[in-house]
Amino acid sequence: MTATSGLPARGRFITFEGGEGGGKSTQSRRLAQALGAAGVAVVETREPGGSARAELIRAFILSGQAKPMGAATETFLFNAARYDHIATRIAPALVAGQWVLCDRFADSTRVYQAVAGGADEALVRGLERLVVGPARPDLTIILDLPAAVGLARAGARRGGGESPDRFEAESVATHERIRAGFLAIAREEPERCVVIAADRDPDIVADDVRRVVRDRLGAAI
Ligand SMILES: Nc1ncnc2c1ncn2[C@@H]1O[C@H](COP(=O)(O)OP(=O)(O)O)[C@@H](O)[C@H]1O
Ligand SMILES: [Mg+2]
Repeated sequence: MTATSGLPARGRFITFEGGEGGGKSTQSRRLAQALGAAGVAVVETREPGGSARAELIRAFILSGQAKPMGAATETFLFNAARYDHIATRIAPALVAGQWVLCDRFADSTRVYQAVAGGADEALVRGLERLVVGPARPDLTIILDLPAAVGLARAGARRGGGESPDRFEAESVATHERIRAGFLAIAREEPERCVVIAADRDPDIVADDVRRVVRDRLGAAI
C-alpha cells in the first residue's frame, strides 16, 4: 500500500519538529556535521518538499494559494508531497544505510493541519498511516520555545523585506496551540520523541541534541 512497504533493516531516520524559529534548520545542520565527522553517511532534507516534485507542492502550499481550499485539502497536499519525498529520497537513503535528518515531517501535519487548522483527526492520522507506513522516524527531536520568541526569530531571519509565509502569518495564539500540540505528541509517544528546550544558546541546544542521538541511537558523537 505504501511507497516503502517491506523497507528492510536500514539507516536511522531522525526528524526535527516544533514551531517557527525553534532552530530546526540550524540544529539539523549541526547534527549532520557531527554525524558526518563521525563517519556516518547523512542525508539532510526538509518538509514540505525535499524532492523535486514535492518542492513544487511546497511552493503552492506556502504561497497561501491552498489555504482557501481548506485544511483537509492542505492535508492531502502535504501527504502528496510526503509520498513523493519518501519514495524518491527518504526510503532509498535508509535502504542504502544512510541516516536521514528531516526538518519537519508528519508531526507537523498532525499539529498544523489537525490541531491548529481543524482538519479531521481521523483523516490526518489515517493518511499518515498510509503514506508514512514503515518510514516512521526512529527519533523525533521537538525544539520547544515560547511561540512569541520563535516568531520573532523567524521574523529576524526573514529580514524586513519578505512577508511571512502562510503558517508564519497565523496569530501568536495559534502558534501557542501549535506548541502545545507538539508537546502532546511527545507525551503520547515518549519512545520516539524527545523535547529539547530551544530558548537557549544554540551551542547548548546542539550539545543536548548530540547527547540524545548518542543515547537513543548509539551514534559515536
Ligand atoms: N538557540 C538559538 N538562539 C538564538 N537564535 C537562534 C537559535 N537557533 C537558531 N537561531 C536563529 O533563529 C532563526 C531561526 O532558526 P531556524 O534554524 O531557521 O529555525 P526553524 O528552522 O526552526 O524555523 C535563525 O536566524 C537562526 O540563526
Ligand atoms: Mg527552518
